[in-house]
Amino acid sequence: MKILIENILAVLPGGPKVRSIYISDGKIESVDTRPADFVPDKTINGSGRLLIPGLINAHTHAYMTVFRNYADDLPFNDWLFDKIMPLEDSLTPDDCYWGTLLGIMEMLRSGTTAFADMYIHTNCAPRAVSDSGIRAVLSRGLSGGEGDPAGARRLRDALDEIEAWSGHDNITFMLAPHAPYTCDPGYQREIAREAARLGLRVNIHVSESLAEIETIRERYGCSPVELIDRNGLLTDKTLAAHCVQLDDRDISLFAERGASIVTNPISNLKLANGVAPVLKMLGAGINVALGTDSAASNNSLNLFRDLNYLTLLHKGINHDAEAVSARTGLEIATVNGARALGLSGTGKIEAGMAADLAVIDLDRPNMQPVNDPVAAIAYSAFGSEVETVIVGGRVLMEKCEFLTIDGEKVIDEVNKVCKRIYG
Ligand code: NI
Repeated sequence: MKILIENILAVLPGGPKVRSIYISDGKIESVDTRPADFVPDKTINGSGRLLIPGLINAHTHAYMTVFRNYADDLPFNDWLFDKIMPLEDSLTPDDCYWGTLLGIMEMLRSGTTAFADMYIHTNCAPRAVSDSGIRAVLSRGLSGGEGDPAGARRLRDALDEIEAWSGHDNITFMLAPHAPYTCDPGYQREIAREAARLGLRVNIHVSESLAEIETIRERYGCSPVELIDRNGLLTDKTLAAHCVQLDDRDISLFAERGASIVTNPISNLKLANGVAPVLKMLGAGINVALGTDSAASNNSLNLFRDLNYLTLLHKGINHDAEAVSARTGLEIATVNGARALGLSGTGKIEAGMAADLAVIDLDRPNMQPVNDPVAAIAYSAFGSEVETVIVGGRVLMEKCEFLTIDGEKVIDEVNKVCKRIYG
């Protein structure tokens, strides 16, 4: 399939320029120079449109859309242990499939072309990703202790899932120890060994709340970051979500190990966990990516909202209007996300990169006049301006219509799940 996106204002690595984009075999073949014998199967008119690299949601739990607006305005521990975890026990694999598809719809609708996911039932997320055509780096959440049969079973399930789906074009896997407080040190070391053996990335929640810092200090006499480092889980293949409560030593450890951090500004605010020290992380040279976290804690998977918060929040708390500029924010939401997820072939509009792209309608009152398109993305857009989304050279949404997902069916199925689990 060859696609031509004609004369569109495109956010290129060097800045926005009007260019024609030639796509073939899933990749951007050329930016502006027409390849010899290029005959498009499909042409998209770029007039009044903006082309951005698809956004990368580097931390979510897509199946949790079924919990959207179910448990709000609660302290973190009450929210997680009293409300969310008991409900999770009542979810079937099929429930998770429909919930994940709804999450994927929401992400595509708002220009996200790849995401990192952590979940409880295996094989549902890969099915939903495969059926929809989006790109994802997936991981079954692992919790348990050394020698604990349930923990061993979870790890075995995760490894079986990885083997079953190996070689899929749009899917890769990580191992996901849930958090330092739900995996004991022996279990952490076991997961670290498996990850090293299989060359897999590690997806983990770290230093999300003050209570976590206290718990880990009491149990092990160190910070959560030091603990996972001791147990071999802090490497250049680590993707650590949240990292709200880091001290300077934690930040240096991240920088030394080359691990990536995913900041989740809205989830951290909503659960009253605080604001991550993103400026210090960036200053230390850490690769910082952006994630929504789940629809139970955000309560949206629209990365435009988090991009907006990211760029505003750090200006406000640092009294520094230059902090996390629109450009830096967009890089965090694209290139840095790709690096964090090990998706080196996406995140930029450049020849040779995967054609993972979002077309934005600029003919909206909130997007006019177009003085600085990148500032418009960070400060003026809602995400609803996204009208066409391409992943790996395949059009998944066109003029706001899903081409691979039956949206009505998905919403209907998710509502059935809710009716059942909420009684
Ligand atoms: Ni999370």
